Amino acid sequence: MSKTALITGATSGLGYEFVKLFANDGYNLVLVARNKQKMEEIKRSFPTIAVTIISIDLSTPNAAKEVFDLVEKQGITIDVLVNNAGFGLLGHFDVLDIQQQVNMIQLNIVALTELTYYVLQKMKQKNSGKILNVASTAAFQPGPLMAVYYATKAFVLSFSEALVEELSDTQITVTTLCPGPTKTNFGAVANVEGTKMFSRAMNSDIVANQAYDAMLKGKRVVVTGGFNKVGTIAAKFLPRSMAAKVAKSIASKE
Ligand SMILES: NC(=O)c1ccc[n+]([C@@H]2O[C@H](COP(=O)([O-])OP(=O)(O)OC[C@H]3O[C@@H](n4cnc5c(N)ncnc54)[C@H](OP(=O)(O)O)[C@@H]3O)[C@@H](O)[C@H]2O)c1
Repeated sequence: MSKTALITGATSGLGYEFVKLFANDGYNLVLVARNKQKMEEIKRSFPTIAVTIISIDLSTPNAAKEVFDLVEKQGITIDVLVNNAGFGLLGHFDVLDIQQQVNMIQLNIVALTELTYYVLQKMKQKNSGKILNVASTAAFQPGPLMAVYYATKAFVLSFSEALVEELSDTQITVTTLCPGPTKTNFGAVANVEGTKMFSRAMNSDIVANQAYDAMLKGKRVVVTGGFNKVGTIAAKFLPRSMAAKVAKSIASKE
């Protein structure tokens, strides 16, 4: 019987690359995002697999529970959960809109945590499953000018690595993807295009392929790209104040 992967943020960028990878391997899919029309297009382009569409704004309270309840109602078993939906915003914390930043926390942290919670109960019952949580290289240091975004990704990495240990005596794996700048809609949404940090953005298919392989192997953390790997190692050794200064300088557009 075919396995099923649930992918949040399936309509563009990394999420859409994951859709193609899972579909090529014959997985049935549950697509979660806001853009229903785009998900219907995606569904039509994969006629040989079962594709379920859930159009929802995951930045609203209880959205993750709604997703889980819909999946349960349809009798779908989730074998792989990909918590990928997320966004960032460039600017001073006190100048950016507070509601948008709260929505970011709700999407990047709360929805990811709640969906993991509900799906994990089911995975525990059958002692099998894979979870791929999308963090970022932003997880490794404070990020002035993207303060909330970096903090949300630090949460994702810490939370996911803790789960790896909690689940060490099970057949359930949790993999955290930490991409650096990648060519998707993220740059336009976050307003980071033209910054130094985005001058070496990677292609999204390469990033998704590396993450997919790491997830299949049950690896703990995958940092994509040699330059990004060096950056995350440097962040571990630099004083936090220095790492924050570097992060601030690459977030500038000059
Ligand atoms: N690209 C990068 O440079 C980069 C670097 C590090 C980490 N990441 C992380 O990678 C993940 C994927 O981002 P991406 O780069 O692929 O960006 P993207 O192309 O903008 O894709 C974001 C996806 O999330 C969905 N989404 C956004 N807000 C949502 C909401 N409120 N409710 C439900 N779905 C929502 C979008 O679909 P709809 O608009 O249809 O809802 C879209 O499918 C994010 O977690 C991001 O933080 C990206």
